[in-house]
Amino acid sequence: MLGFPLPIDQLKRLEALLDEAEALLRPYGLFYADNLLTVGRMIGFLEDPSFRNALMSADPTRTFSVMAWRIHVLCWAATLGLKQPGDLVECGVLEGFSMDAVARYIDLEQTGRGLFLYDLFDGAGGVGRGVALPQHDSDLAWRVEQRFKQYSRAKVVAGFVPDSFQIAVPEQICFLHIDLNDADAETAALDSLWDRLSPGAAIVYDDFGWRSHAAQHAAATRAMAERGVSILELPTGQGLAIKP
Ligand SMILES: C[S@@+](CC[C@H](N)C(=O)[O-])C[C@H]1O[C@@H](n2cnc3c(N)ncnc32)[C@H](O)[C@@H]1O
Repeated sequence: MLGFPLPIDQLKRLEALLDEAEALLRPYGLFYADNLLTVGRMIGFLEDPSFRNALMSADPTRTFSVMAWRIHVLCWAATLGLKQPGDLVECGVLEGFSMDAVARYIDLEQTGRGLFLYDLFDGAGGVGRGVALPQHDSDLAWRVEQRFKQYSRAKVVAGFVPDSFQIAVPEQICFLHIDLNDADAETAALDSLWDRLSPGAAIVYDDFGWRSHAAQHAAATRAMAERGVSILELPTGQGLAIKP
């Protein structure tokens, strides 16, 4: 659903118009999904068979595939991170769709790297901290375990970030995806993991550029500025930074 503060009937009308425009203008590079509308772009990642395979295998029901451009950014950042030593980390996993697509794209098993997945996985979805989502049921942790059991070095860590880093944490990190929907927890995650990030590691904030997540934008900007790093705001709503 579009993130404009409009009455629901006007939002629905706007969405219908954009759907119609997309059908008409797709041959001219129109992309419309995930609150992102572009015209005349290459959108080359959707033509990449490795990317398409990863996306479709991770999301056979196409529930999450609207996030294709965001996933493309994650795949690119993880590939960059793999040039440095360390494991991959995601803080805020939910169903694990994003990192499943990334793991398939980079062929995680073949890289020999670890993948650490941190989430509360509680039925309430971290109410009072993050935002409860429909996927937060009592089977969520089990579903994520099943999803990643094909990878010998994937570790699903249930618990409150940053406290759950006590359970398991990589020595070195080459890629960090922060998606906790909670400014304080995201700052605490960065504080805890910063020294473990290899120079050249890629850090992606999922919600950095979303108006609905302004507190996270302010917290991430401040936390990175303290370390002399600026975050690149991407049209997808993500923020990208590289550990110096
Ligand atoms: C937006 S979802 C993550 C989506 C996922 N990265 C994806 O791409 O599909 C945010 C998740 O953060 C988790 N969360 C929020 N605060 C947390 C905390 N302090 N510790 C651990 N998990 C937390 C919630 O349980 C929720 O599943």
